[in-house]
Amino acid sequence: MSDLTRREFARNSLQSLTALALFEGLFANRLFGADVAPIVDSWFKELDTITREIHDHKVKDVEFQKALEGLYSRVDLPALLKTLDFERMAAGVNFPAKGAKSLAPDFTRVGGLSSNLVFGRQIFAMTKGRSVIPHGHDNMSTGFLILKGDFQGRHYDRIEDNQDHYLIRPTIDRKFAPGDASSISDHKDNVHWFTAASDVGFIFNIHVNDTDPTNPKSPGRVYVDPMGEKVAGGLIKAPKITYGKANQLYG
Ligand SMILES: [Fe+2]
Repeated sequence: MSDLTRREFARNSLQSLTALALFEGLFANRLFGADVAPIVDSWFKELDTITREIHDHKVKDVEFQKALEGLYSRVDLPALLKTLDFERMAAGVNFPAKGAKSLAPDFTRVGGLSSNLVFGRQIFAMTKGRSVIPHGHDNMSTGFLILKGDFQGRHYDRIEDNQDHYLIRPTIDRKFAPGDASSISDHKDNVHWFTAASDVGFIFNIHVNDTDPTNPKSPGRVYVDPMGEKVAGGLIKAPKITYGKANQLYG
């Protein structure tokens, strides 16, 4: 069989347990052998391309969000986890009592990536009931991809910036499972808050700075209390709070 035919056959065989059993050896090789590398390398290459487009302001931040969520939705999650040596990393996590731990993903097995990436990356790790605390972003685009565990994920549009509070509008409030994704920009779903619903949970996260040329603010996080007063039009008056307060309330 040619390589292409073999690949197609391996993919089709996933639909049939009988065929899967017959080709178990082939399947195991594809999933855990050297063949994983080209799949994940091309995925990261596309991540590199789309993050450069927003970094260079060739696309608007909301278009970048679509591209990133599209890319995330096409991830080969087992291959990504293998490439990031996820199980080894996950086994060594010292989970915090409150909030989430930020870990540096191991990119040493990713081939063909530039040495001057324009995106930052991390993996959040937390135990059940703990959260990536509610926060928004100024002049940044970010995206979450669930690697392991179940989450309650919430997003809000930031409608208005006042002295001591933001006006926010709930946009997403749903369960997230491995492979599910969401994203953020100045213009869409700017605030997020993710709480682990399973014993442990892991989220892959990338971010790009200076994604909105019209925003004079430096890129960064802002912390909010999304459980503020409900006001007209389905909006919430969300007090601006410190990291410490957000961690105390929602970590
Ligand atoms: Fe964030």
